[in-house]
Amino acid sequence: MTLWGGRFTKKMDTDAWELNASILFDKRLAKQDTQASIAWAKALEEIGVLTPAEELLIQDGLQQIQKELISENFLYLPEDEDIHTAVERRLFEIIGPTAGKLHTGRSRNDQVATDFRLWMMENILYLIQAIKTLQLQIFNRAQQDIGIRMPSYTHLQQAQPVLLSHWWLSFFWPLQRDLEQFNQVQKQASVLPLGSGAVAGTSFPIDRQVLANQLGFEAVSQNSMDAVSDRDFAAQFIFSAALCGVHLSRLAEQLIIFTSSEFGFFTLSDAFSTGSSLMPQKKNADIFELTRGKAGSMLGTLCGFLATLKGLPSVYDKDLQEDKQAVFKVLDTLMSILPVIGNAIQTLTVNVEKITATINPAIFATDIADGLVKHGIPFREAHAIVGKAIQIALDRNVNLDSLSDADWQMVAPGIALDWQSFFSIQRSIETRSVIGGTATSAVNDQIKLIQQLINA
Ligand code: ARG
Repeated sequence: MTLWGGRFTKKMDTDAWELNASILFDKRLAKQDTQASIAWAKALEEIGVLTPAEELLIQDGLQQIQKELISENFLYLPEDEDIHTAVERRLFEIIGPTAGKLHTGRSRNDQVATDFRLWMMENILYLIQAIKTLQLQIFNRAQQDIGIRMPSYTHLQQAQPVLLSHWWLSFFWPLQRDLEQFNQVQKQASVLPLGSGAVAGTSFPIDRQVLANQLGFEAVSQNSMDAVSDRDFAAQFIFSAALCGVHLSRLAEQLIIFTSSEFGFFTLSDAFSTGSSLMPQKKNADIFELTRGKAGSMLGTLCGFLATLKGLPSVYDKDLQEDKQAVFKVLDTLMSILPVIGNAIQTLTVNVEKITATINPAIFATDIADGLVKHGIPFREAHAIVGKAIQIALDRNVNLDSLSDADWQMVAPGIALDWQSFFSIQRSIETRSVIGGTATSAVNDQIKLIQQLINA
């Protein structure tokens, strides 16, 4: 059944029908479609378009449809073009011709925008929950690994020692920003388009504010033409998902490196590893590679959707139907990645000895330069002095901590420092006690702050 057959004399071409139909994916809006229709019927009753008895009949019918949907007994037919058509068709089957009054004053244009926004408002909550769970898993890991010290890297070259907990928590904060983003998108989705009709606003005196309250929207759209074509909430959602994907991808990349046999900082649990069909010794971190790969696909979805939007004349165009698959895809991707990463992190083993053994004494170069500064040497000069010492060590093919006091005298004439005292991981870490630094005291403060955020 089509909702628009009256002016047509020929049946639609089968392939064209397939191309046009959206039922295969917009089924996911079924619950919201019935929910919005129940509220719409009520609004029609309030202005006398439906009698109370008709409204009740329609409501009962829609509730039965909801039950069929929940129990998965709802039978879709090949002629259902989209979810709106399917629900209306079934309503006719259940209550008869009164069903024909439900679509008074509305269009699928404002209907689909309403359903989709409702869907997003609900599903963002699941996503937020999944992100929070991963944050908690990272946080637990950070608390568990509190005493462990590791080299940090910039440009993938050893930089300065840090607490492993500090490193773990550096992945907590991007996720916190993702949460803020998704809360923003949630707000953006919470604007009611219903009542906009196809383009110009409905001619029936619907109280849209009441309708909005009924459906849980925070606001009512102020321009019918914009309301039926606005998909900024979808674009923002996809952007936020893609950015979250980028964050997860960076974490994944780092974990791939740290679980490699060369680094060996962590060992992945077998439950989160994969083997090779050919090489018996292999234990691969496919789950992190997929995280990295899927982040790329999400970026593609974002670019694709923005390209879809950019050329559209106002108001509604069928191109907009692409919005749902794009949003569903990125949501499903994130929902599949988040728990796996979290559980893999929770179950991995930290190889403390391997981490400690990796530290090259040159990692303390900045500490020595800072020590010279505290002795009154300008930093640039201090930098050059330590640079010279490094050069000597490199020439002799020895580590920086093998240089004698005489060697240091040579590069820093007249300066008497306890040079060996700088070669201490603990010392290096504990001097960095500024807010946000890696000293134990600062990391403990960070942990307290995060605990508050988690409890909030
Ligand atoms: N399936 C359509 C979509 O997702 C519903 C709106 C159809 N509107 C129309 N004028 N054909 O966008």
